[in-house]
Amino acid sequence: MKQGITPVSRERVMREEDFIVSKTDAKGRITYANRIFMEFAGYRESELLGVQHNIVRHPDMPRAVFKLMWETLQAGQEFFGYVKNMASDGSFYWTFANVTPTRDERGTTIGYYSVRRRPKQDAVAYFAPLYAEMLAREKAAGPKTAIDNSRQILTARFQPRGLSYEAFVLSM
Ligand SMILES: Cc1cc2nc3c(=O)[nH]c(=O)nc-3n(C[C@H](O)[C@H](O)[C@H](O)COP(=O)(O)O)c2cc1C
Repeated sequence: MKQGITPVSRERVMREEDFIVSKTDAKGRITYANRIFMEFAGYRESELLGVQHNIVRHPDMPRAVFKLMWETLQAGQEFFGYVKNMASDGSFYWTFANVTPTRDERGTTIGYYSVRRRPKQDAVAYFAPLYAEMLAREKAAGPKTAIDNSRQILTARFQPRGLSYEAFVLSM
């Protein structure tokens, strides 16, 4: 998370036709951001290029969601999820995110590509309190067990229905 930004309760709402697009290198440093990204995140291109993608991380997001994202990508699969991001002025914007690994001809991952669309409102209404519950669990647990403890909330929610987080996300 970027230091020094105070989150504020003002929301920026994505329009139906918006696509927030970014690319990173294999280490998650931004190599491309489209205009809509810059508009929502409130940064100029020069402030984004070469910077870790957690520049838009919102402190309300549980760490377990990003852990799941990186595990999925490192397994060579694409990730779908609902992500709350923070702009440079502290305002927030919810996204429905898809992140895919980019591979060279040998199959080595050379970077990642991400497209975020306007999220469904009922999905945001579903995930906001779920993430809040996960975050509270992460804060209550010690740093070593925080992510596993919070992941259990996800597992407990979806496993009884025979679903993964992503299967549920895609079913919404
Ligand atoms: C292509 C790509 C797009 C990403 N998009 C976001 C994003 O929109 N918001 C976000 O908080 N993290 C995003 N991440 C994950 C961040 O790199 C980072 O793992 C996350 O913000 C958690 O921060 P931390 O690793 O400092 O805990 C993205 C990563 C990649 C590779």
